[in-house]
Amino acid sequence: MTSPRRHIACRAWAAAIGAAALALAGCQETHPQSMLHPVGPAAELISRLWWVMCAVLGGVFVVVMVLAVVALRRSPRSVEHEPAPPLGRTGFIVAGGLVLPTVILIGLLILTLQTTASLRIPETKITIEIIGQQWWWRVRYPGHGFETANQIYIPAGEPVRLEVTSADVIHSLWIPNLNGKIDMVPGRVNPFWIQADKPGVYRGQCAEYCGIQHALMAMAVVVLEPEAFEARMAAMAQPAPPPIDEQLRLGHDVFFTAGCANCHAIRGTQAVGDIGPDLTHLGSRLTLGAGTIPNSHGHLAGWISNPQAIKPGNLMPPSYLTPQQLHALVAYLRSLD
Ligand code: CUA
Repeated sequence: MTSPRRHIACRAWAAAIGAAALALAGCQETHPQSMLHPVGPAAELISRLWWVMCAVLGGVFVVVMVLAVVALRRSPRSVEHEPAPPLGRTGFIVAGGLVLPTVILIGLLILTLQTTASLRIPETKITIEIIGQQWWWRVRYPGHGFETANQIYIPAGEPVRLEVTSADVIHSLWIPNLNGKIDMVPGRVNPFWIQADKPGVYRGQCAEYCGIQHALMAMAVVVLEPEAFEARMAAMAQPAPPPIDEQLRLGHDVFFTAGCANCHAIRGTQAVGDIGPDLTHLGSRLTLGAGTIPNSHGHLAGWISNPQAIKPGNLMPPSYLTPQQLHALVAYLRSLD
């Protein structure tokens, strides 16, 4: 017969396991930011190393816990009558406490060094320059001759070289599905690479505390089939088209009269500000504010009205536009895809 205490403990365990299973089921849909769901060779190597470490160190944890429970359950008096452990008491401590951990740690060190060596930057055809800024990413495609921000495009199945640096403090770029982390250090260009074998959208995140909006410094990595990638590059290299109707013309004019052009560039217009993100293809971005909010009409209107309410501390001031001006400006910016 089970005791009531045991019965309650069993139910608590069942509830905990049920909750964990539900949580796991809930996050099974997509994994846009998970190093345990690699979609490229570099992330695959890192993930494999992680699983080996998890298994080995998990095994060590279980053995240590079993020994601790055995030790706690022994009565002090029984110790004298017990036979000595294999290797004798001192030998057991030296073998289990010194030799075994050393062997395990050296094994893991060798695996780690092998993995690190395999992560060398391969031959690449495409280079992307990424510059961390508080709290967004300036992105340049030198081979295609354009600048953009907060969203990068790469072709599926091909390694891409990244050259990263920072314009202010130390940031760190981490796209967990594609590779590990790389520091972005002012005054220094760090080479890196990523590869995704499957089209999709993955999320990058700043992984080095860089100020109050560190957590809201994310980027979208859009992986396209090679032909779609080439088409996208050709489109991105194009300047913004002139506004085609009355509302877009008003929005275009508001962009200049309200002072937006002092900080932002739109290629094909007189706007060449480079304090904030380049807006030439803003309409094609999935998010605004470096992954902070979705890129929709309402969110963009809210952002332009008062960006400090959405991402306090960023450099953009609020604007004071009439509703007509605001909606025209939003329509114009969203037409830039
Ligand atoms: Cu940039 Cu944290």
